[in-house]
Amino acid sequence: MAGTEDFFEHIEKGYATKGDYINMGAAMLNGEAVTNAFVKIPLKTLNRHGLIAGATGTGKTKTLQVLAENLSEKGIPVMLMDLKGDLSGLAQPSPGHAKIDERHAKIGFPFVASSFPVEILSLSEQDGVKLRATVSEFGPVLLSRILDLSETQSGIVAVVFKYCDDQKMPLLDLKDFKKVLQYATGAGKSEFTKEYGRISTSSTGTILRKIIELEQQGAELFFGEKSFDVNDLTRIDEQGRGYINILRLTDIQDRPKLFSTFMLSLLAEIYDTFPEQGDSDKPELILFIDEAHLIFKEASKALLDQIESIVKLIRSKGIGLYFVTQNPTDVPNDVLSQLGLKVQHALRAFTARDRKAIKLTAENYPESEFYDTKEVLTSLGIGEALISALDEKGRPTPLAATLLRAPMSRMDVLTDKELKEVNDRSSLVKKYGEVIDRESAYEILNEKIEEAEKLAEKEKNKPAARKTSSRTSTRQNPVLKVLTSATFIRGVLGVLKKVMR
Ligand SMILES: Nc1ncnc2c1ncn2[C@@H]1O[C@H](COP(=O)(O)OP(=O)(O)OP(=O)(O)O)[C@@H](O)[C@H]1O
Ligand SMILES: [Mg+2]
Repeated sequence: MAGTEDFFEHIEKGYATKGDYINMGAAMLNGEAVTNAFVKIPLKTLNRHGLIAGATGTGKTKTLQVLAENLSEKGIPVMLMDLKGDLSGLAQPSPGHAKIDERHAKIGFPFVASSFPVEILSLSEQDGVKLRATVSEFGPVLLSRILDLSETQSGIVAVVFKYCDDQKMPLLDLKDFKKVLQYATGAGKSEFTKEYGRISTSSTGTILRKIIELEQQGAELFFGEKSFDVNDLTRIDEQGRGYINILRLTDIQDRPKLFSTFMLSLLAEIYDTFPEQGDSDKPELILFIDEAHLIFKEASKALLDQIESIVKLIRSKGIGLYFVTQNPTDVPNDVLSQLGLKVQHALRAFTARDRKAIKLTAENYPESEFYDTKEVLTSLGIGEALISALDEKGRPTPLAATLLRAPMSRMDVLTDKELKEVNDRSSLVKKYGEVIDRESAYEILNEKIEEAEKLAEKEKNKPAARKTSSRTSTRQNPVLKVLTSATFIRGVLGVLKKVMR
């Protein structure tokens, strides 16, 4: 077996960087850290996405914490999906511990405690910056995908959006969308049929049922105003540190559909908003998704395709996505193959299935003359992980079992009082705090129906005079008629789908 000196040289050479980097800790040989054999991840390749995996309690969330705080320190903003609520400690310095000093002595640099600029975001009624998007912004394509609609049903969704656009009727929340759907086969049936072709009640019934399913997961809190501006995720504090935006999702574990709806809309919005970055020396924003299996769970094929294509494309905007999950097999293969940084904590070999997963995982790492990967995977301690990254030229770095540095911030959560202080300080909480329910499709259509009913009532009471139409607007222009027909919109949708792929 090769000696420590050879190993040190191997790591030093493999992890050399010209530009700035994050130091994750020291590489280990035969279960012991080799002091100063630093495992350095170049900032330049952090937009190449990553994975943090490992059995429960092995240190995944602390690795996420370490990455987030070091990114912040380098002026890179971060967003964290905190599903267990265990990341708020980033806002307070670590109280320190003899064991942490010991760890850092082995690694080769002293431990320094620090706190970081934090914003708390929320998708539910919990305190924090409220994240919302309007149905219009969400758009017909995403909405159809998230509801897993057939082509015919997606065509109807597109017609509803088109109708609201034509009538200058804002589609803000799900209440608006449901109202227009009901109107299309109810009071507004003849208007719709004339302009857009017949819409079947059974199709709108299915769409309505699926919307109600989404609402049952709490989606009505997400759809509406004031919609969140993703540029607010990239704030830098007065000391030049990137903000760490923690989205608290403790109440979302049993609501995977809401979670994936939100994630998809966020990624699509970020993709639309951020400019192409070209060859940059550091990323614009890094997103971490803890318990990532939840977005892949129950996701339809169409949704997975969408996620995959976003993962591929978003990199060029300087956005890095990091998935945190127990088993790498939780992440679809096409996504896995896109990930540049892999931090694999220990895996446990309890069952035959576990052993198979370990074998598969080991095969996915570069070969190393210094390690038996399968053996290392099961013998790593807490706060230790196998790392493989990309160097500045985009080549895989040598495999390194790493004794990871400790988080500089608190490893425990904030108290309620401390959380409140974070929210009280926040300007974003105020900006997004008020609920706005301005006049939108729901109110406009209700008024329209009421007027029509009043008119009909008048007509009934009038002795057979001339009849007036209750419809307020009907376009008879034949070109417009083609442009707004369901078949035409379906055609456009088909092209859109191809383009989005
Ligand atoms: N880098 C580290 N430095 C110091 N201590 C660590 C480190 N990583 C993990 N630990 C210790 O291990 C404990 C468990 O870590 P962590 O919560 O990150 O595990 P996990 O893999 O996220 O577990 P779960 O699957 O249950 O979410 C921490 O509370 C901490 O005491
Ligand atoms: Mg965890």
